[in-house]
Amino acid sequence: MSKEYVSKTSKSKALYERAKKVLPAGVSYGIRYFEPYPFYTAKAKGSKLYDVDGNEYVDFWLGHTALILGHSFPAVVDAVKRQLENGTHYGTSHELEIELAEQVAKMVSGAEMVRFTNSGTEANMYATRLARAYTGRSKTAKFEGGWHGGYDALHAGVHYPFNVPESAGLTAGAIQDTIVLPFNDLEGVKEKLKDEKIASIVVEPILGAGGGIPAEKEFLKGLREFCDEKEILLIFDEVITGFRLAPGGAQQYYGVKPDVTVFGKILGGGFPIGAFCGCRKIMERLDTRVYERPHYSFHGGTFAANPITMTAGLATLKILEDGRLISKLNMIGDKIRGQLREIFEANGVDVQIVGAGSLLNTHFTKEEMKDANAAFRADRKKLVDYHLNLIENGVFFLPTHTGALSTAHSKADLEKLFSETEKYAKKCKTT
Ligand SMILES: Cc1ncc(COP(=O)(O)O)c(C=O)c1O
Repeated sequence: MSKEYVSKTSKSKALYERAKKVLPAGVSYGIRYFEPYPFYTAKAKGSKLYDVDGNEYVDFWLGHTALILGHSFPAVVDAVKRQLENGTHYGTSHELEIELAEQVAKMVSGAEMVRFTNSGTEANMYATRLARAYTGRSKTAKFEGGWHGGYDALHAGVHYPFNVPESAGLTAGAIQDTIVLPFNDLEGVKEKLKDEKIASIVVEPILGAGGGIPAEKEFLKGLREFCDEKEILLIFDEVITGFRLAPGGAQQYYGVKPDVTVFGKILGGGFPIGAFCGCRKIMERLDTRVYERPHYSFHGGTFAANPITMTAGLATLKILEDGRLISKLNMIGDKIRGQLREIFEANGVDVQIVGAGSLLNTHFTKEEMKDANAAFRADRKKLVDYHLNLIENGVFFLPTHTGALSTAHSKADLEKLFSETEKYAKKCKTT
């Protein structure tokens, strides 16, 4: 990062020095750190983040892609303010949890019944357990580059090289039942699973942390058929794609219905959430009135379905329900990807602009992006450099991560992205 960033962010630097003493790496989530230190946000509104030094950033990270309506969307904030007066946390049953579950069921074809959690990680954990309970099998499979949160059984094969453990502290027992599969390669999947009996395959319809790479439609269709044939539960992790690619998520966008769907991010309307959903027959395994120990599958949590999150989620889904805003964002996404591609190409920079709908990422390579291997083979140093360059000039992508659009982004915001990208591309040309 240049001297300019350092000279503009002295208060952030001081906060980072303080943070390092009490927060490992100075952060609350490793990916939020970037060189030489992250800026500290003081305020956020609409499409912008404002740091403690008074710098403004057009935000394409949007709270890990959760904020499709931008920061502090008025209708969501108003609904939450009203709910604050009526209680922040009940720990009892209440109508809002029914309303949000009904809303999800109305919008998502694969979601007849819903259970809420506090994060996408938790929802994937309970979905995996549910699949094991339902099928009576132990093994689970996921894809290279797929990120489903830090749950032991799914915390494998996220980063290249995919066979190196993702973290210390994962026991061999925890990951020996996890099979890591090649993405967008149906024959490879069949080959890897030919002698296996597994409970579930979890797939992100668009690899988020794995580089913003969409699944091919034929691949997802083939996966669906394969799972039917082998009686494996197909889990779509729609924590990123849910309520973003289409009102009914990636399953609507692709026309492929999973057995279990996992949601998070957008569903919480800016508050912590996760959810897992499916048809009655599968979800009934969570019903202690129908299944007794050891046949039922546990799920629960102190803050599950807390009324603040339910309120914010409901307000958000009602705005997204008719699909108009989502279609518009998807069209803008196509245009942006096209325009960024043109800018780099005009300056002779080899690039792949990937994503779908309102999700996008950049990879500096000639190679076509079919899987996370290709993303990791691209010039990642250059990607970090590009994103840091944007940050320095008031455009925020979390370095290397997939970015997202919100309904709050203005034409001027997008123009800023193009002009800063053009300056960067020109710099690449001369160096
Ligand atoms: C596709 C996907 N699944 C699961 C998760 C985990 O969700 P959370 O961070 O809410 O635990 C994430 C988070 O980024 C994600 O992108």
